[in-house]
Amino acid sequence: MADKILVANWKMNLLEPQAYFNAFTAALGQSSLSGVKIGFAAPYTLLATARACAPAAYAVYAQNVHERESGAFTGEISWPLLEPLAISGSLLGHSERRQFFHETHDQVAQKLALTLQRGHCGIVCIGETLAQREAGETFSVLTAQLTPLLPILTSTGACILAYEPVWAIGTGLSATPTQAQEVHAWIQSFLETHGIRRNAIPLLYGGSANSANLEALLQQPDIDGALVGGASLQPVEFAKMATIAAAFRK
Ligand code: 13P
Repeated sequence: MADKILVANWKMNLLEPQAYFNAFTAALGQSSLSGVKIGFAAPYTLLATARACAPAAYAVYAQNVHERESGAFTGEISWPLLEPLAISGSLLGHSERRQFFHETHDQVAQKLALTLQRGHCGIVCIGETLAQREAGETFSVLTAQLTPLLPILTSTGACILAYEPVWAIGTGLSATPTQAQEVHAWIQSFLETHGIRRNAIPLLYGGSANSANLEALLQQPDIDGALVGGASLQPVEFAKMATIAAAFRK
């Protein structure tokens, strides 16, 4: 069985990385995290400190990156600007980027292409809104989001997908393990239909994941890990989740 993957998304929250990692490590105690890959997606201004404070085995990610390498894009950040920070990669196309900053499916695909070209990992987020789910459009929305990615996705370990139903994000209303599994299985079949070997691309679930629901989610055959917002802001809670995820390797 492959290692599970657990990625914190700190979003636009001011944390003190040294204090966070001290508390995270203390909460882990003697627990071994050898069976789980841990990552932290930090705001830009915390990336350098997070990279310096986090144990080397943990990945540090940006939350967004521009699809061009340089140019007149005031307020944006590119890979050449991030590379001196020695981070592992970036979240791409998070629903909050798509919803509030109008990122398009093609733009997200361009971000992934540049991310891979420059040797970094891209965690691409996809998912439907509540209105889309209620209208029975979940799979057509996912098809539209995934299609531009198909020529770019590789199974080299540099691509991760995160299914984050928008209605479950920050609402406390996680998808049930059955709901999440249904969509994860569909995504793996969709990728397979397009020539990408089943399970070649790890598929995370995101949306109100926490230490109470993580185990049941990870028990599902096509859920390879979780992308965690709110619960990851509490280092003790996130350490609990890491311990739960690590137990799946044994
Ligand atoms: P919550 O865990 O707060 O629902 O956020 C999920 C998310 O958006 C992670 O990227």
